[in-house]
Amino acid sequence: MTDAVQTHSSSAQFTPRIFSGIQPSGNLHLGNYLGALKRFVDAQGQGMETLYCMVDLHAITVWQDPAALRHQTRELAAGFIAAGLDPAQSMLFNQSQVPEHAQLAWIFNCVARMGWMNRMTQWKDKAGKNAEKSSLGLFAYPSLMAADILIYHATHVPVGEDQKQHVELTRDIAAKFNHDYGVEFFPLPEPVIEGAATRVMSLRDGTKKMSKSDPSDASRINLTDDADAIAKKIRKAKTDPEPLPSEAKGLDERPDARNLVNIYAALAGQSVDEVLRDVGGRAFSEFKPMLADLAVDKLSPISTKMSELMAAPEEIDAILAQGAARAREIAAPILERTYDIVGFVRG
Ligand code: TYM
Repeated sequence: MTDAVQTHSSSAQFTPRIFSGIQPSGNLHLGNYLGALKRFVDAQGQGMETLYCMVDLHAITVWQDPAALRHQTRELAAGFIAAGLDPAQSMLFNQSQVPEHAQLAWIFNCVARMGWMNRMTQWKDKAGKNAEKSSLGLFAYPSLMAADILIYHATHVPVGEDQKQHVELTRDIAAKFNHDYGVEFFPLPEPVIEGAATRVMSLRDGTKKMSKSDPSDASRINLTDDADAIAKKIRKAKTDPEPLPSEAKGLDERPDARNLVNIYAALAGQSVDEVLRDVGGRAFSEFKPMLADLAVDKLSPISTKMSELMAAPEEIDAILAQGAARAREIAAPILERTYDIVGFVRG
């Protein structure tokens, strides 16, 4: 990550800073863990300031029951901490406690163009034929996401593959703002998409992304699943009849097999080739129990810790409030300078 800062001249004047977010919309799953959470933990303690946000303002772009939203926000925070994020090292907070996100988002709503938003594949997927009935917030969502990142002048954004387009849009918004106002104020942040599991697929269909909204619970491993549920879902995961290949290219055209190997590699902290060197030639009847053991080994401690933390929600709330207060110390002056650049009169 440090290399990217040195080579990317437009970000060079900015202190390297990491920001990322996850929606508290329930069903935190293995894709979120491998594509995002685990990588947040890996980035911690490498000398960069790190901010991680439960993006509750994003969650309400589709209906959320208020009591469920509150529970899901705390559960997500518990997931962050249980996965290894240390609130003393990383700022952990929920988005609505830092009002500067929404304030900057309004300005970006006036910078971003309708055409840019219309091209977002996530908008097209989520709104589909129902665009007329979707909330205005769902359409404007990427502009709020740009504000999440840029209100901290963040330079690095670890995300899964599906968020790449949104981070690229963030760069476009930053560049247009800088150009329109004749400043070099916002950095052009880099999406950081790394590792063997940047796109974890459904356990029931290796061509579809693992997703919290899939109606089949068997399609995903939730971070709240117990050891039995994890093992059962892996046992039932869709595969093909061939044994595993010995090299990564042997997984081309085998989406279900590739998905399970990617998951294994990411959980084990190995490359796909390293995994295949060990398991090449084996049948899935042998590989699946290995994967189940590894998944249980890595994920069970997280779900156990999450339940422990959820027993004291007031402690979670205090951590989020402290994280928000620290985050505001960075966000408030950046918003003030933005207001000055835009020409807002302030007393
Ligand atoms: P969200 O909440 O859908 O997902 C959170 C993170 O998990 C990653 N992810 C996956 N990675 C690999 N395989 C999968 N199947 C998979 N599913 C989800 C996502 O890529 C993401 O990194 N818009 C964002 C939240 C957000 C945000 C931000 C992220 C709001 N503001 C600013 C970064 C910076 C979202 O809906 O992620």
